[in-house]
Amino acid sequence: MNTLLTAVIWLTVLSVSFSILLDESRPEDATLSFTELGMKYGHSVEEHDVVTEDGYILTLFHIHGETKGPVLVMHGIFDSADTFIIRGNLSLIITLANKGYDVWSGNTRGNKYGRRHKHLDPDAGPKFWDFSFHEAGYYDLAALVDFILEFTGEQSIRTIGHSQGTTIHFILLSTRPEYNEKIKGFIALAPVAFLSNLIPPLSTLTKAWPAINKFLKATGTEELLRDHSAANDLIESLCSQGLIGYEVCYVLLSSTAFGFDPERIEPHFWEVILGHFPTSTSRRTLIHFAQIAVSKRFTQYDYGSVINFRKYKSLTPPNYNLEKVTINISLIASGNDNLSRLKDVDILRTMLPKELKYHVMEPMLWNHVDFTWAKDMDIYLYPYILSSLQEF
Ligand SMILES: *[C@@H]1O[C@H](CO)[C@@H](O)[C@H](O)[C@H]1NC(C)=O
Ligand SMILES: *[C@@H]1O[C@H](CO)[C@@H](O)[C@H](O)[C@H]1NC(C)=O
Ligand SMILES: *[C@@H]1O[C@H](CO)[C@@H](O)[C@H](O)[C@H]1NC(C)=O
Repeated sequence: MNTLLTAVIWLTVLSVSFSILLDESRPEDATLSFTELGMKYGHSVEEHDVVTEDGYILTLFHIHGETKGPVLVMHGIFDSADTFIIRGNLSLIITLANKGYDVWSGNTRGNKYGRRHKHLDPDAGPKFWDFSFHEAGYYDLAALVDFILEFTGEQSIRTIGHSQGTTIHFILLSTRPEYNEKIKGFIALAPVAFLSNLIPPLSTLTKAWPAINKFLKATGTEELLRDHSAANDLIESLCSQGLIGYEVCYVLLSSTAFGFDPERIEPHFWEVILGHFPTSTSRRTLIHFAQIAVSKRFTQYDYGSVINFRKYKSLTPPNYNLEKVTINISLIASGNDNLSRLKDVDILRTMLPKELKYHVMEPMLWNHVDFTWAKDMDIYLYPYILSSLQEF
């Protein structure tokens, strides 16, 4: 009896592992790279290596367009350039490319397309990972914009960011105001600068940042959720277990942070997402967000008073000066986004010096990730993006 049971268990384990190995059930788009997805949906993709002032090497994807000028799109936290193309024909990138825009999709340091450096090895010690989204704005976005200007010979470009992809814009434009000349218009999807109005459990978690930070440092965890690490693979295999994986990981867990919207991301597409998301980032990136939430200020990284004083000449980190952000911006937010909450977007609006275009998404349940992944972005979101691009 015992042997029979053992045999049955082994057979089950084997067949499950085989089906994972053979990728039988995985949708094709979960396994394709950015460039392969571009090909599949009708566009050839060029890959460029962009080197930042401080030596990080980032992949910048380019779909050549003749008629409507360059547009750069920037992804959020734990995400990559892939996020804007995995919806295939419905994705933002393919939509813009089909309309004749010259489309560029960037990556920030530390994600799967940004794990390279001229001298530092991401797998050898913490040095490579000593950054937060501050550096992603100050160095990475600057380098990507400069590369595109140089490549195209244009004076200025338009940009689109999602979530942390908006944060890095506010950082670059406030710390290096000359970039207000290089970006002529910016569309901010689910904007994140202030996180003063988070609700539990996220607000509770952010308050625990000193303990979480200590734990991560003590365990030497500088890189979070590396692709093909045990943690990342576990998320992917558990969360893509058919309908149950979808119900637990998307409907139940993710909705806590993103806002509850079971409609716009369907189980099959959830498996495509898991082939691309999450990807790696640094410990300090996560901690920096928590610091902003707890301090209720949009500030630089808090290293603790001793190092703060050395770096900033003050015991506390300085605020980003949003007065310096003078370009045309179109903010698009949603009442059901539990990360980028409307009250926090309102704080941002009062801090920015210029009159902005502002739109709140109409479908009641539109959430944080619907801005990149919803099945009806073409109906509810793209009209605002396209009209803003035209105005800029
Ligand atoms: C994408 O759209 C194009 C043009 O409408 C169509 O020809 C193509 O078959 C679609 N591709 C896929 C994979 O659905
Ligand atoms: C998201 O926030 C709203 C309040 O704005 C709240 O009613 C809702 O329960 C939150 N969703 C989740 C999944 O926590
Ligand atoms: C902002 O947009 C308006 C049109 O909406 C345009 O007239 C103006 O020149 C733009 N300003 C900048 C700084 O690009």
